[in-house]
Amino acid sequence: MDLQQILDTATTGNVACLIFEPIQGVGGFAIPPDGFYGEMSKVLSNYGTLLISDEVQTGWGRTGEHFWGYQAHGITPDMLTFAKGVGNGITLAGVVARSEIMENVTALNFSTFGGNPLSAAAGLATFREVKGKDMQGNALDMGKRLKSGLEKIVSTTSWIGDLRGRGLMVALEIVGTDSSSGNTEPYPERAAEFLEACKDHGLLLGKGGAYGNVIRITPMLNATASEIDQGIEAISAAIKSIGKS
Ligand SMILES: Cc1ncc(COP(=O)(O)O)c(C=O)c1O
Repeated sequence: MDLQQILDTATTGNVACLIFEPIQGVGGFAIPPDGFYGEMSKVLSNYGTLLISDEVQTGWGRTGEHFWGYQAHGITPDMLTFAKGVGNGITLAGVVARSEIMENVTALNFSTFGGNPLSAAAGLATFREVKGKDMQGNALDMGKRLKSGLEKIVSTTSWIGDLRGRGLMVALEIVGTDSSSGNTEPYPERAAEFLEACKDHGLLLGKGGAYGNVIRITPMLNATASEIDQGIEAISAAIKSIGKS
């Protein structure tokens, strides 16, 4: 297994932790197979290496199928980190770990704004809304709606090589310069052009991927069916404005 080889050849064998995103965010919504980190965990446990799940993008039900992204992997990580969505725009982030780990952090540690009451209230209010209104279920339903609404136009557009995603984390991979040869090379210039075309149709999307060629679609967790449909229309119009070549 690759991980075993990396540990044996590129480390002293004394590795503190593996930090992973259950679905890579800025990395372009790369989605490992379910259970992938569970398999890694079996190898890492031989080395006493901790597993840290970074849920800044995948947490709070965004993947639809689970509340936390790590739950697709059949493991409980040693530590969990989160931010952004936890405060719904108000500055807030957090880390959760077993007490024997947290109690080992003995260094003096404080922050001027750490634990401020406004952020804590925003976090609590957000959590109540997310749980009370089953936004995880909404992410699942709206994610399916978004993907199926995009499928047809994507399948007939040669420069979109992949439509993938879980829940409300959906990506379009922009590829190729030569449609006839089925080119799958990253095409970042076209991705940038596409983002601009989406803006012209009133829709702001993100970009990522190692080659800057993955369009990231992450609607708010409480998006309604009609908002998703508006997004699909804007994306479809942007694709048409660029052309199918
Ligand atoms: C997956 C992931 N982890 C961590 C961070 C950084 O979070 P913070 O700004 O709270 O340090 C980001 C920021 O975009 C992120 O996407």
